[in-house]
Amino acid sequence: MDRRYAENIYLNAPLPEGSYLAGLPAIRDLSDRGREGLPFDADVTFLVGENGSGKSTLLEGIAVACGFNAEGGTRNFRFATEVTHSSLGEILTVARGRYPRDGFFLRAESFYNVASYIDQMDREPSFGGRIIDSYGGVSLHRQSHGESFLALVENRFGGRGLYLLDEPEAALSPSRQLSLLALMHDLAGRDSQFVIATHSPILMAYPGAQIYQLDEGGIRAVGYRETEHYQLTRRFLDDPDRMLRYLLQES
Ligand SMILES: Nc1ncnc2c1ncn2[C@@H]1O[C@H](COP(=O)(O)OP(=O)(O)OP(=O)(O)O)[C@@H](O)[C@H]1O
Ligand SMILES: [Mg+2]
Repeated sequence: MDRRYAENIYLNAPLPEGSYLAGLPAIRDLSDRGREGLPFDADVTFLVGENGSGKSTLLEGIAVACGFNAEGGTRNFRFATEVTHSSLGEILTVARGRYPRDGFFLRAESFYNVASYIDQMDREPSFGGRIIDSYGGVSLHRQSHGESFLALVENRFGGRGLYLLDEPEAALSPSRQLSLLALMHDLAGRDSQFVIATHSPILMAYPGAQIYQLDEGGIRAVGYRETEHYQLTRRFLDDPDRMLRYLLQES
């Protein structure tokens, strides 16, 4: 891809003092980087790190700054069930090399609401065709979590898009995670960019991806095999009994 839809992100104003954002080392790091910000150099960027390290906060900030609904969907989706989103999107700038033709922001927690929103819009009178037809034609509520998620990617993601996904593996079996890798590869070949928060050692193996690890030290680029997800999963699968004995030994 010549120019990326999101080439870089930076904060255009100081963090609100005393906010939880200022207390997150990853967000502080982004702030300390100033205008240099955090570059997105690959078709696929992963945000990895412990629970609570700020991955969803950062991804949502990027989504809101790009004009997506904070709860997920396309840029045309306008619904809010709960106002829980942070104000990061208001002070985050996405340096854009060019504008995408397509886009989607997916959060595991609110996929259900995205499905409900599509059903609701299709119940209302409209001059256009049914929205669900561009999602495979079957209500996302009438499919399993994984089926509906893959239907979304297969039918609705059209290429030349910026796709922001928060823990897409939540819906997917290991074999379907491999299917997602193949779909991502196909979409990347059709001029798409992904930013994905994940815990999945399968997904983060995507070749050539940039992996940013969020931790107490801030944000740093790491190699796939350096990630704790890879190392811990590998050690566990090499000898589950040994690790379980150690973990479950009586104290
Ligand atoms: N609206 C909010 N108000 C106050 N604190 C919040 C808010 N949203 C998130 N936090 C806190 O910010 C921290 C980062 O949350 P975030 O959801 O970004 O983590 P995460 O890296 O996505 O974690 P996980 O892997 O569990 O999804 C958490 O400690 C969380 O409690
Ligand atoms: Mg999260």
